[in-house]
Amino acid sequence: MILKQEYDRYTADDFSVWKTLFDRQHALIGQKICREYREALELVEFKGTEIPRMDRINEILKATTGWQAVVVPGILPDKEFFELMAQRRFPATTWLRRPDQLDYLEEPDMFHDVFGHTPLLTQQHYTGFLEGLGRIALRWIDDPDMVERITRLYWYTIEFGLIREEGEARIFGAGIVSSVGESRYCLQAGPPPHLRDFDLDTILDSAFRKDIFQEQYFIAEGYDQLLASLVPLESRLEQFQYKKKNPPALTGGF
Ligand SMILES: [Fe+2]
Repeated sequence: MILKQEYDRYTADDFSVWKTLFDRQHALIGQKICREYREALELVEFKGTEIPRMDRINEILKATTGWQAVVVPGILPDKEFFELMAQRRFPATTWLRRPDQLDYLEEPDMFHDVFGHTPLLTQQHYTGFLEGLGRIALRWIDDPDMVERITRLYWYTIEFGLIREEGEARIFGAGIVSSVGESRYCLQAGPPPHLRDFDLDTILDSAFRKDIFQEQYFIAEGYDQLLASLVPLESRLEQFQYKKKNPPALTGGF
């Protein structure tokens, strides 16, 4: 279901929540968040004093990558979600969490979807990866095991990915960008968490949890590496499916 942003319905609390979250994350941006995101945030003209207008975001996206953000009520079923992605459209909510939910929310709100995701939709190599992932997901959409694996790649990159910049791990995943707690946690000194180099096979085998900070994060060498991973992704999915249909014969016994 595609909705419209009802800007006149935002309350003083909504503006205050946006400003508090924006100011907190903005303070972290120079130290921990990747350069592409920092530059993209300038491009989309976000400010603490103003809840972004989806129409304006879409004008900017149209002029940069041709993507559009579409307003949805909440989390979408996988098929609808990946269909939008393959059509170069990104689903975003436009409601804001309550003032007593600043640090934890079960479902993504506008701060996550819009602050976290939409700036990078101005970057061609990032959107190329998203669109490719959407197209591959649609090919496998009737197989929940394959969709689960594709979702892991989305999760450990678009939501919780890190990227190497000048030798240092920097944040680009929207789940971290939009969370003050996880932005501090993921790059803290000492274990845990476990920072690993981006590795497609490890990611495809790594289940994740949504209700805790991640136990591991993967550092990509650049968006080109993500885009390049789509080719082996397709062959890995074919191998998984072959093994599923042709399980090894049981051996041993008496
Ligand atoms: Fe997200």
